[in-house]
Amino acid sequence: MDKILVWDLPTRLFHWLLAAAFAAGWLTAGSARWLDLHVFAGYLMLGLVGFRLAWGFAGNRYARFSSFRFTPGQALAYVGDTLSGGAKRYLGHNPAGSWAIYGLLALGLSIGISGLLTLGGQENHGPFAGLFSRDLGHGFKQFHEALASAMLALVAFHLAGVAVESVLHKENLAKAMVTGRKAGKLHQGSLPRRRAGVLVLAAVMGFGAWYFKDYFTQTPDKPYLPFAGPALPDNPTWRAECGSCHLAYHPVLLPARSWRRMMAEQDRHFGEDLALDPATAKEILAFLQTHAAETHLTKTAYGMDRSVPTGEAPLRITETRYWQRAHRDIPEEAWRHPKVSSKANCAACHRDAEQGSFSPGAMGLPSTP
Ligand code: HEC
Ligand code: HEC
Repeated sequence: MDKILVWDLPTRLFHWLLAAAFAAGWLTAGSARWLDLHVFAGYLMLGLVGFRLAWGFAGNRYARFSSFRFTPGQALAYVGDTLSGGAKRYLGHNPAGSWAIYGLLALGLSIGISGLLTLGGQENHGPFAGLFSRDLGHGFKQFHEALASAMLALVAFHLAGVAVESVLHKENLAKAMVTGRKAGKLHQGSLPRRRAGVLVLAAVMGFGAWYFKDYFTQTPDKPYLPFAGPALPDNPTWRAECGSCHLAYHPVLLPARSWRRMMAEQDRHFGEDLALDPATAKEILAFLQTHAAETHLTKTAYGMDRSVPTGEAPLRITETRYWQRAHRDIPEEAWRHPKVSSKANCAACHRDAEQGSFSPGAMGLPSTP
């Protein structure tokens, strides 16, 4: 027995990059702050799966789909053999592993696509921007998350298979995916094909540099805000009157019934009398109602509209379920930071608070003084 090449460099690069992309996507999921990294991981995964599909026809002997064409029956029989300790050793993919790979490729592809559909529906970004309603975007998101959970389960199955096989056949399969080599007869080996591997890596690095290019050119007074949407409606009277004591909270942040109640009680506004004359109050109320959360102008508006029960008209944004859920992972000391001082001081952490967009990628915690 010699050490022969089984996994060529492109296959190995694909394997570990895909693992990294999935892990990065999983870790950055559910947090608006890391959405740009999350989307990058998704593009990376799509690119890698696309490459692997091509490599299944153009790759070396063990990378080709024709070398691991098994029926589901053969895969099940192989799992049975493994459990009874008598499974045959394969140099390339075994029947059960082959089906794990088909599944992972199919899931990787559908996770990437459903992610782009979610991005288009929820954030109005990416290739599907503006094509779907936010309701549909929300549905895509749930589908996207279910697919990701299925992929995690399949990864666990794959890892268990690798561990069991490694013990059963006394060979370190994880190491073989690093070195590419396994014990076998010389005539079973395959040719290296390194050039394509280098190309894969160069393409990934090139795409990464292009995707994050705007970060390299940002300056403190012109920060790069990925996912910033189009400018939201503005009104000079509203901005002047409602922005004099605190941030002018954009109308999308509360439902119309809250704004009606707030303007009806303008003589006792959190202990202050706003003393607005009727014409001014009317203009402000009209602006607030026209662009309230129900308009779904932004993802924030949509989330706010869904989270406030119909019978309620809260006056505080910070007391709505949506706001509290969005901020539940923020450490306690961040609220006591001298630059923050109040939960309602949105602009301390949201660089686009003045515009009212509260877009992902424009938010962060203030740095320690
Ligand atoms: C101490 C800093 C801080 C303050 C103050 C703050 N936020 Fe946030 N906010 C964050 C961070 C950080 C996130 C991202 C949380 C995460 O990781 O998902 C966030 C998330 C959000 C989101 C969710 C965005 C999305 O796309 O999911 C909205 C909306 C939002 N904030 C609105 C507000 C509003 C309105 C205020 C003021 C009333 C406010 N925030 C005050 C730090 C802050
Ligand atoms: C005279 C000063 C003053 C003016 C003018 C003013 N507010 Fe306020 N506003 C306050 C104070 C004080 C609070 C309570 C702050 C706190 O407790 O954190 C508040 C709180 C709020 C909140 C709740 C924020 C939260 O989620 O905790 C909203 C919404 C709000 N104001 C909207 C408006 C609107 C709309 C206008 C214009 C019609 C307006 N304010 C004008 C003083 C003012």
